[in-house]
Amino acid sequence: MKKLNIGLFGFGVVGEGIYQVLSEKSQLQTHIKKIVIKDPEKKRNAPAELFSIDPNEILNDETIDVVVELIDDADAAFEIVKTALNKGKSVVSANKKMIAENHLELIELQRKNKVSFLYEAAVCGSIPILRNLEEYYNNDLLNYVNGIVNGSTNYILTKMRSENQSYENALKAAQENGFAERNPTLDVEGVDAVNKLSIIILHAFGRLISPDDILKKGITALKNEDFKYAAEKGLIIKLIAGCAVDKSENITPIVVPTFIEKSKTLGLVNNEYNGVLIGSDLADEQFLYGKGAGRYPTSSAVLSDISALRYNYKYELRKGIKNGFHGEYFAEKKFYVGFKPGLDLDKSTFQNIEESYQSKDYEYVTGTISLNELKNSGWLENPEISVISF
Ligand SMILES: NC(=O)c1ccc[n+]([C@@H]2O[C@H](COP(=O)([O-])OP(=O)(O)OC[C@H]3O[C@@H](n4cnc5c(N)ncnc54)[C@H](OP(=O)(O)O)[C@@H]3O)[C@@H](O)[C@H]2O)c1
Repeated sequence: MKKLNIGLFGFGVVGEGIYQVLSEKSQLQTHIKKIVIKDPEKKRNAPAELFSIDPNEILNDETIDVVVELIDDADAAFEIVKTALNKGKSVVSANKKMIAENHLELIELQRKNKVSFLYEAAVCGSIPILRNLEEYYNNDLLNYVNGIVNGSTNYILTKMRSENQSYENALKAAQENGFAERNPTLDVEGVDAVNKLSIIILHAFGRLISPDDILKKGITALKNEDFKYAAEKGLIIKLIAGCAVDKSENITPIVVPTFIEKSKTLGLVNNEYNGVLIGSDLADEQFLYGKGAGRYPTSSAVLSDISALRYNYKYELRKGIKNGFHGEYFAEKKFYVGFKPGLDLDKSTFQNIEESYQSKDYEYVTGTISLNELKNSGWLENPEISVISF
């Protein structure tokens, strides 16, 4: 078996996890030669001589053939990964922000340098979604991918609903458990889910889309009244990332809080778990489920990528890399829009209004909105306005 010499960047939640796993499993025939971190003063659960703060100790070491990049700084990660690929090293990364923002350039570097760049852990933690989309769903016509792809917001929404926790306490618990990004606004504002969705879209549909072109609303604008509305209707609220493709090949990529029935498949996905529904012509609907965050679930995906390097596995992107978006969304959906009285909401944004409610403290309207109109309304960016999809 080919022995892999690894240079590891990062020794945080995931980095230390993969170090432990690789150290304990000698049958994996891997050797971590160096670990580069940022803060030389921190106490580490590994021999001191392994650590360095100089990236070149890994990048310039010709005996290191694999770089595992697990740092929490997307810009620094991009420089590290680019240099490693250009030096002919294969790279495993979990950095969805860095990948979503530089996807095409990274794929081209992988091809040019004839190495592998794998990132299963960047999307849905332990769930093998990318390799499934690449290999299994290579021939069947995919119609949609819909799912809960951010473990941290799912954990927060679950704790708020089932244990009546405040938003602040639930977020703190998500951070303490290692589910949240160091900068939690990436999770709660939906940025992390958008980054993951853009990576999914390339592997599912062969379409390249900038995270900026994905419609986005996180969970921070949700109010008690919205949760009350959901409970009255027997529904729960989840942050859902989805992309559908219509017969004319238009795509509708959107990350938005969504009402769902508790008993429906995604309604059963709670805490830090992720779940993804894949809709296709032949297989109809299939469901992938597993832990989406945390030390060992994420390490499991990193480990799987490291193992795949033994047989030189690469993402082939056989569905192509077409421009994913042409500036317009060709779909409409039913939404609930909630706000405090006094806010001058332009209700003509709705194509039709189904229900409207007004009290002295809160108002809401439900009805159909075209996604173009929703984008132009400014409601997605407004923290005073709740926008929830049905
Ligand atoms: N946590 C999860 O559940 C999870 C799930 C999926 C994907 N991910 C992704 O995995 C990556 C790591 O996440 P994490 O939760 O393990 O982060 P973390 O616990 O915050 O650890 C980050 C590590 O990166 C190191 N670091 C930061 N900047 C650096 C630089 N410029 N050079 C070298 N090292 C640097 C830090 O060094 P010091 O120790 O010296 O501070 C720390 O060891 C991120 O891209 C994240 O999005 C995480």
